[in-house]
Amino acid sequence: MKLESDYSLKAYNTFGIDVKAKLFVRFGTVQELQQLLRMPEVQQEEKLILGGGSNVLFTKDFEGVVLRNEIKGIEVVREDEQHVYLKAGSGEVWHEFVLYTLQHNLGGIENLSLIPGSVGAAPLQNIGAYGVELKDVFHELEAVELSTGKIHQFDNNTCQFGYRESIFKNKLKGQYIVTAVTFKLHKQHKLNTSYGAIQTTLQEMQVQQPTIHDVSAAVCHIRSTKLPNPKEIGNAGSFFKNPEIPLAQFERLKAQFPDVPSYPVSATTVKVPAGWLIEQCGWKGKVLDKYGVHKNQALVLVNYGGAKGEQLRQLAYDIIASVEDKFGIKLHPEVNII
Ligand code: EPU
Repeated sequence: MKLESDYSLKAYNTFGIDVKAKLFVRFGTVQELQQLLRMPEVQQEEKLILGGGSNVLFTKDFEGVVLRNEIKGIEVVREDEQHVYLKAGSGEVWHEFVLYTLQHNLGGIENLSLIPGSVGAAPLQNIGAYGVELKDVFHELEAVELSTGKIHQFDNNTCQFGYRESIFKNKLKGQYIVTAVTFKLHKQHKLNTSYGAIQTTLQEMQVQQPTIHDVSAAVCHIRSTKLPNPKEIGNAGSFFKNPEIPLAQFERLKAQFPDVPSYPVSATTVKVPAGWLIEQCGWKGKVLDKYGVHKNQALVLVNYGGAKGEQLRQLAYDIIASVEDKFGIKLHPEVNII
């Protein structure tokens, strides 16, 4: 474990923003992490834990220590007739973990294929796509408390999962580092193909009786046509959350904009796709110098190379203001702005 000074984070955030960390260090085991947390030069600094760096926008140099999580390993910890409980190190790359489950014919996260990021970041914001959320297959996680170095266990309830939310983004923000996540995966698969684009893609693939492998292939196809590959164009996936608004407000909106898409959330709340709201305000495909709004998905902000985090933050603010102005709806970033 080597503490490095003035370390460029460009390769460690999928937006590809060129900022520096005052200190940077990698850890590959829980013991190494605990050792680091006892070091005075680490203790006195502000800390930032980076996994895949796929949900962060850096707007300035980080004047503290960046702890890069590289805890690896996947093991079966329990098995019953219907399930396999797989425990994965939090530094595993998410999609590689998905591929592992597919290779072992375990169902549950095929819809979450190709999401950038690490296993440890997945529960933090309860990643979700195409009708499935992490919480649907989550069993428990282990996390180290920054202030004490102690390991704590969190189950589905104590994580307080919500839409792109967990206790680690709220009450316990910045207090724990997730070190391992255990998933409850299915031997008998229950496919979720309710999402329209999955059905269409499976039809195009001429698949009659889909398997988890087909669903994963369909999801990979949809994602790669709609969403920019961070290896080619800097981005952090959806920049904003889809806003949830009261039904009465939605009805007024619908009267004014009859085409507005929506998904029911409860008897009194409706989710409106932020991508639609942003597109209606004319932002889709907008190119501003070296950055802009993706041409196929207005919810995704992109860095074509060399943009400053501050420029992307300003773009996000301008989008929020114009959506609020036109629709009276305030968008909230999903991405962690630092
Ligand atoms: N839409 C537009 N214009 C756009 C984009 C979307 O009109 O430019 C409208 C369309 O009506 C479309 C609807 O929005 O049918 C939904 O779009 P899409 O299926 O692309 O999904 P989303 O709501 O924009 C959410 C997640 C994605 C996830 C997809 C699929 C959030 C914030 N985002 O996007 O997650 O992959 O659903 O389930 O909930 C991420 O979190 O980084 C992410 C990519």
